[in-house]
Amino acid sequence: MHDQAEKLRARFQQNPLLGGKRTRLVAVTSGKGGVGKSNFSLNFALGLMEKGQKVVIFDMDIGLANMDVLMGVSPKRHLLNLLETNNSIWDIIEKGPNDLEFIAGGSGFTQILDLDDAQLFHLYDELQALQGYADTIIFDTGAGISKESLTFILSCDEVLLVTTPEPTAITDAYAVIKMIHSRNPHMPIQLVINRVSSPKEGKQTADKLSMVAKRFLGLEVSTLGFVSDDTNVSNAVKRQRPFLLAYPQTRASIGIRSLVDAYIGKHSAFDHGSTPEPTGMRGLLAKMKKWL
Ligand SMILES: Nc1ncnc2c1ncn2[C@@H]1O[C@H](COP(=O)(O)OP(=O)(O)OP(=O)(O)O)[C@@H](O)[C@H]1O
Ligand SMILES: [Mg+2]
Repeated sequence: MHDQAEKLRARFQQNPLLGGKRTRLVAVTSGKGGVGKSNFSLNFALGLMEKGQKVVIFDMDIGLANMDVLMGVSPKRHLLNLLETNNSIWDIIEKGPNDLEFIAGGSGFTQILDLDDAQLFHLYDELQALQGYADTIIFDTGAGISKESLTFILSCDEVLLVTTPEPTAITDAYAVIKMIHSRNPHMPIQLVINRVSSPKEGKQTADKLSMVAKRFLGLEVSTLGFVSDDTNVSNAVKRQRPFLLAYPQTRASIGIRSLVDAYIGKHSAFDHGSTPEPTGMRGLLAKMKKWL
């Protein structure tokens, strides 16, 4: 573990370019549980890595951390270890397939919002170290939106809202849009429609949600893309391998890659000044306090 931390640190220090990156914080969330957030987060991260991005995933599922199970790895440390001991952020970063870096959720994430000053200061310093290290940091949130997870979501640069075409999932997704909008009307939200039987069904689902958001909230919600309902997702879960790696040519993997392309397209639009600048880790804890 310590070796890994040393290596990460050395690599960070050796490559001056890494320190100059603008880091985007992306919250992956949903209304209804079980719609595919964790699978999406994991495979989307791997897709971004295929395009040369440096990605770190935070598993924010309280008590039910399952990102590690999807990757078939057993994490030795989790986020709270950062606070309990003198560990640095580099000590708690675990590695998954293709050297994907992730921070395991463990249990009791809520404690993060109930820290003494020394702990908060330590956490703040350590999280800041990721600023400029990763291109994208993905927060995979758990099922249902608690006060704590809403705080975290509102502190990110953008939200990817996952839903399926089922009416219950759509209704719950709209409730999340409303909740986020009422706290921060400027938060960029993009839809990911998972488990679609056809592109037409994906488009209809996205249209329903964006029309309702437009009519009742005056809000433009854009769509990042669709991922097919694909039995190889479940096969990959059983094999504890990300589907993008286990079944690179399956429909879900093709969907993830086109979402990655769409995301990178929007990201480069942002680099040219058409979307707001990410505030990254530096602003995250300051914003968390604001939303509490
Ligand atoms: N595109 C897909 N095609 C087929 N099945 C899928 C797809 N995406 C997800 N699933 C199924 O849904 C299950 C739940 O997915 P996942 O754990 O990613 O959901 P989640 O939203 O993270 O759940 P939770 O709300 O509990 O965190 C998977 O184990 C898989 O069987
Ligand atoms: Mg999950």
